[in-house]
Amino acid sequence: MKILAVANQKGGVGKTTTSVNLAAGLAARGQRVLLVDLDPQGNATSAVAADLENPPTLYGPLTGTSDVRSCLTPTRLPNLSLIAANLDLAGLEIEVARMDDHLQQLRRALQPLRDVDTFDFAILDCPPSLGILMTNALAAADQLLVPVQCEYYALEGLGKLMFVMGQIRDSGANPSLTLSGLLMTMFDRRTNLAEAVVKDVRSHFEEVLYDTVIPRSVRLSEAPSFGRTIFEHDPRGTGAEAYGQLAKEFLKRHEANLSFVNAPL
Ligand SMILES: Nc1ncnc2c1ncn2[C@@H]1O[C@H](COP(=O)(O)OP(=O)(O)O)[C@@H](O)[C@H]1O
Ligand SMILES: [Mg+2]
Repeated sequence: MKILAVANQKGGVGKTTTSVNLAAGLAARGQRVLLVDLDPQGNATSAVAADLENPPTLYGPLTGTSDVRSCLTPTRLPNLSLIAANLDLAGLEIEVARMDDHLQQLRRALQPLRDVDTFDFAILDCPPSLGILMTNALAAADQLLVPVQCEYYALEGLGKLMFVMGQIRDSGANPSLTLSGLLMTMFDRRTNLAEAVVKDVRSHFEEVLYDTVIPRSVRLSEAPSFGRTIFEHDPRGTGAEAYGQLAKEFLKRHEANLSFVNAPL
């Protein structure tokens, strides 16, 4: 099982949309995928399991009171399971912060899943802050995928994120953590600005940047309110096409063992 953290400490850049739809796209390609909701807001949970009442969260595994294997929730999508989140996770930050070795708690909690061959990929949808849950995600992950919104200040904060990634690696918390890549999201082809931002980012980051660019699409933004992934909500639209393409490109990178130590900032 390979663990991918979808992270950016900025809110509203497309982390959850990307986690949900990349997970669904990979599952549709026959990969066995676990979507792990690490955000107390639970938006990824609503997108794939809105109909379930109180599915188990990581609270038990992170506090050492239950096994992660008892927290897996099947979804209606074949090959896709979920570990849900709810507001309990907010209080959990404080509890985990008090523990010895508090950076390693998520890695420890997920270990039983690494030991058995149940999933090909686990995708961690991180909360929008550099707090305990997100740093735990970086310590637990093999790779980091960073959604970047197509806007003027797109790269703001990326230096800090790369610095923290380096710290987690160099401190020994997770020596093999690498960057899968940056992903431009919410691209609006009607504006020159978006075009210029993508061009600028691409010239700077070259292959670190995914070729796939996620377009701005009302369908993508409304799908969660129907409790659907984009593949269910608008299977023939630009959003489904882009996330399908992303799943393909992600697998290609995975098979080629392509990842990066850092983004050249
Ligand atoms: N490609 C897109 N086109 C249009 N709206 C989007 C797109 N991606 C995300 N959104 C919307 O933008 C908001 C923030 O996206 P979200 O994925 O929740 O970001 P994050 O998890 O980083 O906070 C949500 O309302 C979401 O539906
Ligand atoms: Mg989110």
